[in-house]
Amino acid sequence: MPVNPYETDRLLGEYLLFHYGRPEEILPFPFGPRGALDFAVRAVSECVNAARLPDHARGLDLGCAVGRSTFELARHCADVVGIDFSASFVRAAETLRATGRLAYRRTEEGELAVPLVATLPVEIDRGRVAFETGDACDLRTDLGTFDVALLINLVDRLPEPRRCLSRLPGLLKPGSQLVIASPYTWLEEYTPRANWLGGFQQHGHDVRGIDALRAFLEPDFEFVRAVELPFLLREHARKYQWSVSLAGVWNRR
Ligand SMILES: C[S@@+](CC[C@H](N)C(=O)[O-])C[C@H]1O[C@@H](n2cnc3c(N)ncnc32)[C@H](O)[C@@H]1O
Repeated sequence: MPVNPYETDRLLGEYLLFHYGRPEEILPFPFGPRGALDFAVRAVSECVNAARLPDHARGLDLGCAVGRSTFELARHCADVVGIDFSASFVRAAETLRATGRLAYRRTEEGELAVPLVATLPVEIDRGRVAFETGDACDLRTDLGTFDVALLINLVDRLPEPRRCLSRLPGLLKPGSQLVIASPYTWLEEYTPRANWLGGFQQHGHDVRGIDALRAFLEPDFEFVRAVELPFLLREHARKYQWSVSLAGVWNRR
């Protein structure tokens, strides 16, 4: 059985730094892509139209990892559910929810690491948030309905992305907001080739993930806009992944 990378301590440290690290903890150089910092915060601030959310809004964050975007949604929603397949990510998010902080280690080089502490902005009401483990392709049937849903960097990590997308009309209230962001890194180790939404040619035409998503969602969701969301994942002191996620924003018809 291959190890799920999202259950390893190395990835847990990387994601805690990615979601909660201060700029100087992530990028201590006088150069580098600063516009790619704070991705989990920008995914909410740049893609969700908070003014359109009703009072007592409910939010959903599918593939929430260690939870930063889930907490950011709680600035605008009375009740937010974060769901992830990784038990260790959900445990970390739950500790942050319960205590507001979590100690972790940032890899420097090889086995060398430094201790850091993830903290939440004090103004976020942690009592509005709940985390649970779950499979985005097989969600429990009693989740209820939501005013806003995020799928941030999730669809290209799912074995059956269409199965997950098929649940969305039933989870989202009329007039609600849907944000699906992805760098569209299709890999057979996560998604069998037959289930890729894009990244191939069909009938002589290039099929892109964003266009396939738009076509799939069109009957139930009106496409509003696309947002470029750069992000920076620090692997160790001298190695980073710089990527650009493409977010689509839709309104439930
Ligand atoms: C690339 S990470 C993105 C995490 C977070 N949304 C972000 O933007 O930083 C993908 C996340 O999806 C989770 N995941 C993978 N397969 C999943 C599934 N079937 N159901 C729910 N979560 C899943 C992983 O555990 C991981 O936390």
